[in-house]
Amino acid sequence: MTNHKCLVVFFSHAGENYSVGNIQVGNTKIVADYISELTGADQFEIVTHKYDGMAYTPLTELAQEEARNDERPAFEGQLSSLSEAVSNYDIIFIGGPIWWGTYPQVMFTFFDTYDLNGKTIYPFTTHEGSGLGNVMSDVRKAYPNADVKPGFSIYGHEVRTNKAKVEKWIKGLNL
Ligand SMILES: Cc1cc2nc3c(=O)[nH]c(=O)nc-3n(C[C@H](O)[C@H](O)[C@H](O)COP(=O)(O)O)c2cc1C
Repeated sequence: MTNHKCLVVFFSHAGENYSVGNIQVGNTKIVADYISELTGADQFEIVTHKYDGMAYTPLTELAQEEARNDERPAFEGQLSSLSEAVSNYDIIFIGGPIWWGTYPQVMFTFFDTYDLNGKTIYPFTTHEGSGLGNVMSDVRKAYPNADVKPGFSIYGHEVRTNKAKVEKWIKGLNL
């Protein structure tokens, strides 16, 4: 727990996924839940139903197309209440899976919608080999006046068995 007011903003895709089979709870959501448990952070989940029920291969094709076209898929959520709330937080964790080398495009819709300049941001990813990919430069580009701290990445297939790795990261931040 910390005296800072923390928020975890994340996207996570439940369903058929690489290396972990068909999952009820997405890998990134599991990490987001660990962060909340360890820091008391509130959560905002970036939700879209665009990918519901899609098999892995068609999803990768759609995601590649979205990335290529730099699309901004819509997300659901209480925009006005969140935008009021964002000002209440000084530390924001931003997390998502790596899709084609960076965050899913729907997260960029969030970045376009909410100005997090001036905040302290800790990016994190779950992935299957790309680590942080291009996330650090993409977040810094979205929020040039935020204090974007070094990011954390963990293999998606590891999150259920290696909570200790997340714990070590969070403890090392000395929030
Ligand atoms: C559409 C799609 C694209 C992906 N692209 C990458 C990639 O470029 N690099 C990588 O390491 N993993 C990639 N993955 C694997 C995911 O990053 C990994 O399974 C992640 O933990 C999923 O998180 P989630 O369950 O929270 O959605 C991809 C997965 C999907 C579904």
